[in-house]
Amino acid sequence: MPVNDPASPLSVPINDLFLIVLILGGVVLLGVTAALVIFARRYRAAPDAPDPAPSFGNRRLEIAWVSIPLLLVLVLFGLSLRVAFAVEPSTAGRTPDIIVRGHQWWWEVIYPDAGVVTANEIHIPAGKQLLVRLESADVIHSFWVPELGRKKDMIPGQPNTLWLEAAHPGVYTGACSEFCGAEHAWMRLRVVADSPADFAAWERRMAAPAAAPTSDLARQGQQIFASHSCASCHAVEAGAQSPNVGPSLAHLSERATLAAGAGENTPAGLAAWLKNPEQIKPQSLMPNLNLTPDEVKALVAYLEAKP
Ligand code: CUA
Repeated sequence: MPVNDPASPLSVPINDLFLIVLILGGVVLLGVTAALVIFARRYRAAPDAPDPAPSFGNRRLEIAWVSIPLLLVLVLFGLSLRVAFAVEPSTAGRTPDIIVRGHQWWWEVIYPDAGVVTANEIHIPAGKQLLVRLESADVIHSFWVPELGRKKDMIPGQPNTLWLEAAHPGVYTGACSEFCGAEHAWMRLRVVADSPADFAAWERRMAAPAAAPTSDLARQGQQIFASHSCASCHAVEAGAQSPNVGPSLAHLSERATLAAGAGENTPAGLAAWLKNPEQIKPQSLMPNLNLTPDEVKALVAYLEAKP
């Protein structure tokens, strides 16, 4: 991604500032290096020459090397301040469009107005600036989708807000950016920017109640889900929040990944995850339930059912 062509209008001022700092820093580096080389060559002393007399109190020099860096720092401070305000428009009077809550080690994603609850994949309409409230259920995490701009910490008991916008439809990958335990590296995130029509359709599908299982296998899976205490950690009803342990599995087939990016959400990927979560994401809270191959097959049929 070229630095001057960011995926979010909110990262334009940041990228511009980066370029200015890079150029200014480059000019200073070149100037200092050139002076060093020129002076070293020009004033090279003969091996047995005596030390020159020290020189003190050159007022012009003192003023120059205090005022030039001071001016540079003041200019950069002013530019940074302007960028800080530009990328952080006021949130006064706005309620969050999306709530993202960090867990060890996955992301809970809630759309309060639409009554949608999902995990690890955030759908947004392209071209619209959304207010995201960042929360944490346990330790400090950090929300970061590099192509869409800033990162911000998710602090237990201290919600933060972040503006999120993608200029064009596309998939933007992110990651937790604050070490949060064993599987910090597998706390991946996907922001899927849809066209407004696609987003509305996605939101409608996600808010709709799941259809009753249509095959015997899926019905069997539904029973296993209830009898193996899956439901004590995972919600499956659309819009329901999980009992604070595992992600909602409502309309799971809408997601491309499992376990915050550690697995692929395909029937084979889900089967591997159910069979032995420890192999895919060691130390995650998902237990190995010692399911038989038939039970795994039934659960996959139930959970991956398309609406
Ligand atoms: Cu969550 Cu690192």
